[in-house]
Amino acid sequence: MSTSTRPFDRLLIGILLLLLVCKSSSQPTSGDQTTLLAIKNQWRNPWQLVSWDPVTNPDHCNWIGVVCRGGRSGAVTGISLPKLNITGKVPESRLDLSYNNLTGGFPDAQLYACSQLRFLDLSNNAFHGVLADDISRLSPAMEHLNLSTNQFRGAVPAAVAGLPGLRSLLLDNNQFTGAYPAAEISKLAGLEQLTLASNPFAPAPAPPQFAKLTNLIYLWMSEMNMTGEIPKAYSSLVNLQLIAITDNNLTGEIPAWVWQHPRLENLYLFNNGLTGTLPRKITAVNLIELDVSSNQLTGEIPEDIGNLKNLSILFMYANQLTGSIPASIAMFPNLRDIRLFENKLSGELPTELGKNSPLGNLEICNNNLSGPLRPCRLQQQLLGPAPEVPERLHPAEQHHAVQQQLLGRLPSKDMVISEVDQCQYTEQRFHRVFTGQYM
Ligand SMILES: *[C@@H]1O[C@H](CO)[C@@H](O)[C@H](O)[C@H]1NC(C)=O
Ligand SMILES: *[C@@H]1O[C@H](CO)[C@@H](O)[C@H](O)[C@H]1NC(C)=O
Ligand SMILES: *[C@@H]1O[C@H](CO)[C@@H](O)[C@H](O)[C@H]1NC(C)=O
Ligand SMILES: *[C@@H]1O[C@H](CO)[C@@H](O)[C@H](O)[C@H]1NC(C)=O
Ligand SMILES: *[C@@H]1O[C@H](CO)[C@@H](O)[C@H](O)[C@H]1NC(C)=O
Ligand SMILES: *[C@@H]1O[C@H](CO)[C@@H](O)[C@H](O)[C@H]1NC(C)=O
Ligand SMILES: *[C@@H]1O[C@H](CO)[C@@H](O)[C@H](O)[C@H]1NC(C)=O
Repeated sequence: MSTSTRPFDRLLIGILLLLLVCKSSSQPTSGDQTTLLAIKNQWRNPWQLVSWDPVTNPDHCNWIGVVCRGGRSGAVTGISLPKLNITGKVPESRLDLSYNNLTGGFPDAQLYACSQLRFLDLSNNAFHGVLADDISRLSPAMEHLNLSTNQFRGAVPAAVAGLPGLRSLLLDNNQFTGAYPAAEISKLAGLEQLTLASNPFAPAPAPPQFAKLTNLIYLWMSEMNMTGEIPKAYSSLVNLQLIAITDNNLTGEIPAWVWQHPRLENLYLFNNGLTGTLPRKITAVNLIELDVSSNQLTGEIPEDIGNLKNLSILFMYANQLTGSIPASIAMFPNLRDIRLFENKLSGELPTELGKNSPLGNLEICNNNLSGPLRPCRLQQQLLGPAPEVPERLHPAEQHHAVQQQLLGRLPSKDMVISEVDQCQYTEQRFHRVFTGQYM
């Protein structure tokens, strides 16, 4: 038992020393305490570490085995836990050190020693440096590699393809450059989650090879200098629930498969150069969030949008859409946010809007909408829970925050809009509050 866990202890102690000892003394020591507690938790809170308790023993420098610089309340400079028999309690396969302030390079030497490692989460730290070319020396059991939100730089090594069991490969929000190894990544047939977003990769088209990753559920490739069209070949990715390819330089039309995707729940294609019309046929009935804003889409919003009964968010702002707003969208029971401003829409607003759903936000300015807008009742139960996508994914979240502040001042009562000026229905991009009378 102890032989199978010893490498993991070495790993943890190694990482602790690497990360705690080597980091600068300006780091807040509360971060050290958090790290220690995370590790105690990793060890499943063994009785030997009962003194590692911030409630009964607030100064972690008094905790057993913890060595601090300058004694009390200092930065941790070492850990010494010999012969405490704490082996045997640690699942060797899982190392989660996310959301700390850990620095240093990817601790490859320590991690390579851990032959059963399946799950490695170093996300949301301050790791930096280049990933080793031999990263395939990580355990062959690896399933989840989460390096998201650090400062790793340089090339993504082709050797990631040497981890054939990977189900998630999360590399978003780093400083990776150059060309990522698309051909190699596409060999990871079991991949369910792939994130490459927010890295300064060299401009390149979406790699057609990813069409082989037919188990993908979650694909996040925003803000990574992507050019060209959304590949038609991606229609093979029938398990996708989320596609986010925002803030790139995509051109051409949104392929038909996107609109007919059976499983898709979240579709984000905003801030690109996409052109063409929306298709007449839309059967992606599981869509919950749809955001194709800030492109150059033309033509009308098709009647078939009425098939998307689960829609909660409908953003198509800053395009060149014409025609009227289909009345069917007013029937969606969960629709809480509509943003269609800066288009060329005409006609009248659907009179049912806001009657059948907790519509909290409606932005339709800068169109050519006309006619008397009949009073509509808006439930003041705005916004609801945040979308289940990474916060950073959606710039609109910042808007939500602002809006929540504005609306927070309104009485929590039903409200009737009595004015007919269309702009009074909107937040004017958050510079104005709803003008309405309260019942
Ligand atoms: C990490 O450092 C930042 C700034 O120094 C601090 O605000 C944050 O609370 C720290 N996080 C943790 C988990 O200690
Ligand atoms: C560790 O285990 C050994 C052998 O079972 C035992 O002799 C020793 O007292 C234990 N040490 C502690 C700190 O429990
Ligand atoms: C990192 O990725 C793994 C695997 O997908 C996931 O379980 C974990 O929650 C992620 N970590 C964070 C902090 O989101
Ligand atoms: C796009 O690529 C250029 C040149 O490689 C790079 O300087 C820039 O940071 C990249 N931009 C983004 C948003 O990734
Ligand atoms: C992407 O578009 C931005 C803004 O239009 C532009 O500044 C940038 O040069 C484009 N990048 C590529 C790689 O085409
Ligand atoms: C809509 O959401 C409900 C509840 O989450 C779910 O049961 C249903 O399968 C979804 N899809 C459609 C087309 O209604
Ligand atoms: C706005 O709509 C009216 C009819 O409601 C139409 O006569 C007019 O041409 C439209 N203007 C623009 C700029 O599309």
